[in-house]
Amino acid sequence: MPASNDPPRDRASAPASGLYLKPLLLGVMQNYVYLVGSRATRECLVVDAAWNIDAIVRAAEADGMRIVGALATHYHQDHVGGDLFGHTIEGLAALLERVSVPIHVQRHEADGIAKVTGVSRKELVLHDGGDEVAVGDVKVKLLHTPGHTPGSQCFLCHGHLLSGDTLFFRGCGRVDLPGGDPEQMWKSLNGVLRKLPPETILHPGHQYGPITEATLADEFRENPYLNVPELEDWLGMMGRGY
Ligand SMILES: [Fe+2]
Repeated sequence: MPASNDPPRDRASAPASGLYLKPLLLGVMQNYVYLVGSRATRECLVVDAAWNIDAIVRAAEADGMRIVGALATHYHQDHVGGDLFGHTIEGLAALLERVSVPIHVQRHEADGIAKVTGVSRKELVLHDGGDEVAVGDVKVKLLHTPGHTPGSQCFLCHGHLLSGDTLFFRGCGRVDLPGGDPEQMWKSLNGVLRKLPPETILHPGHQYGPITEATLADEFRENPYLNVPELEDWLGMMGRGY
C-alpha cells in the first residue's frame, strides 16, 4: 500500500486528439485523481483533488498544464479531503491555497463538501445533471448518478467516463453509508451508465482488484452489478426489500 506522500504512479492514459487525461493513483485507499483538459490551451481540471496536492500540482506542471478548476465526484473525504478515522486527508482546501480556481460540484453534494473540507460555499459552483464544464476546447459533461451519495456525479469527456465511486472495474460503490440509496444506485447504473456508448473507456475513483483497464462494453458484459435487470432482485441483493 502506498503512503499518502508517495509520488504519483501513472496508469497509461489514452488521449484523443486534443484531450489531455492523466490518472494519478494516490493514497492508502487507492484513489484515482485525474487531470483532464485541453492539449491545445494547456489547461486542465483536477477531478477529486485529495491525498497529495503537491504531487497533483507538480504533475500538471511537469506536463506544462495549468490547473483552472476542480471537479468533485462526491463529498467523501478520500475524494475531496477532510478528517477520516482520526486522520486528516489533504484535499480541496489545500488545493485552493496553491491555485485559486472554482470547484464544480453537484448541487446535492454542496453542503457535504463544504462541511468535510471546510471550503467556503462561495468557492463552489453548483451544477445539475447534464451541465457541461468547458476547459479550452474540451467539454466535460456532468452526469448525476446518485446512489453512493445523493449528489454523486460522473464525468463524461470525449469517450471517457470518470465514474468516481459509482462504478468500479467489476464493481459499484457502497450504498450502505450515510446518504446511500440502493434504489437510486440501480437507477443510476441502469438508467444512466448503461445508456452510454459501449466503447466508452472507464476511469473509476479507486483501483480495486487486478483489472486496470476496461470499456463500458467490458463492464456491461462482466460486471455483476450491471447485470441485475429487475429492481426487486437488486434490492434483495442489497438487503432491502423482500
Ligand atoms: Fe465514496
